[in-house]
Amino acid sequence: MENISDILLSWFAREGRDLPWRRTRDPYRIWLSEVILQQTRVAQGLQYYLRFTERFPDIAALAAAPEDEVLKLWQGLGYYSRARNLHAAARQVVSRFGGVFPATYGEVRALRGVGDYTAAAVCSIVYDAPCAVVDGNVYRVLARLFDIGIPIDTTAGKRAFAELAQSQLDTSRPGLYNQAIMDFGALQCTPAQPRCGDCPLAGRCLALAAGTVGVRPVKQGRGKMRDRWFN
Ligand code: ADE
Repeated sequence: MENISDILLSWFAREGRDLPWRRTRDPYRIWLSEVILQQTRVAQGLQYYLRFTERFPDIAALAAAPEDEVLKLWQGLGYYSRARNLHAAARQVVSRFGGVFPATYGEVRALRGVGDYTAAAVCSIVYDAPCAVVDGNVYRVLARLFDIGIPIDTTAGKRAFAELAQSQLDTSRPGLYNQAIMDFGALQCTPAQPRCGDCPLAGRCLALAAGTVGVRPVKQGRGKMRDRWFN
């Protein structure tokens, strides 16, 4: 029987989106796309990606730009600290690595604004490093497939999902697998109206069997539930 990874990858080959950052292995472009996509959906992010890469075709060009020009291109995406970090990281790559994007997880993770997600995404996609990404899509797909009720917004939940994601990673093709599970979450295993009727993983989805798809993943929300008395 096919394993989950094979099913995800054949789904991705059929249904995955054809995007400009999927036609390159330039770490600068992959990193840029991931930073933009943390801020917005693919449809809007694409426009920003194209504008950025046109104006700043490589990391040296981004590093050399005045900050206000970077902020201006970022306008509309919100959360300007991301743009400032992007710019600062480009300058770090120039000053620390002579303008050559670093190739190890530790060095990438140490760049300004780069967290676990971005480091795993860039290193797996560009260098085939065996690092599982965990974003909102991955939480949802895994919570449903394995019918996990641990809240994802708790320390214990984050750790459990990080471990599960890592255990599911196809280490022979981590970059492809990571992109496949994220696209699967974005297009098939969607938050509100998941397409369970034509889902290639329906036969192994524990939440579908249990009738809990609609309540996975679980979020604890701010604070614990408490009793309140009204009169
Ligand atoms: N969302 C953010 N990065 C993504 C990627 N590389 N593939 C699919 N969805 C994403």
